[in-house]
Amino acid sequence: MPELQVTTLIPAAEIASKIRELGARIAADHPGKPIHLLGVLKGSFIFMADLARAIPAEVSCDFMRVTSYKGTHSTGDVRFEMDLTETIAGRIAVLVEDIIDTGATMDSLLRVLRARNPEKLLVCALLQKPSRTKVTVPIDYLGFTIPDRFVVGYGLDYDGRFRNLPYVGVVEGM
Ligand code: IMP
Ligand code: MG
Repeated sequence: MPELQVTTLIPAAEIASKIRELGARIAADHPGKPIHLLGVLKGSFIFMADLARAIPAEVSCDFMRVTSYKGTHSTGDVRFEMDLTETIAGRIAVLVEDIIDTGATMDSLLRVLRARNPEKLLVCALLQKPSRTKVTVPIDYLGFTIPDRFVVGYGLDYDGRFRNLPYVGVVEGM
């Protein structure tokens, strides 16, 4: 099997400076309020680790793992393989996602989590592929928009590989 080549799309330094900006904005938008980060595993774990450290405020973290069934209808069901461990009721909750592709996963996730009565439910995504949007979801904090290419690195995987790359890249030959 030939080795897969990954070409850099977003260098590590660009990701780092964008995350500093996002972290500062999240804190500035909620002065004096604790921020509760909700990570969608596995893809968001590296982004969330850096984002948490970029928010100059009181920060707490929780995680969930979901699988979504994408049908032709936008309101795909989301199934929790692992749910959050804490309540989000009355809190400023920020959903942290690696990438928003069609938007189906985020759309279903928002429905489920809104029903748990957070004071605020915000979305922070590192990447979005606008040309692939099927369901429009509110993205309060966005890192980068990217073309319709399959990307890996910085938490994103191809068949479990490449999550540890410090940059976002495109897998060649796919
Ligand atoms: P959506 O429901 O179509 O928005 O899909 C979002 C999920 O698909 C993300 O959380 C990723 O797990 C996965 N995904 C979409 N595009 C890519 C990609 O380019 N690389 C790696 N994973 C991707
Ligand atoms: Mg994901």
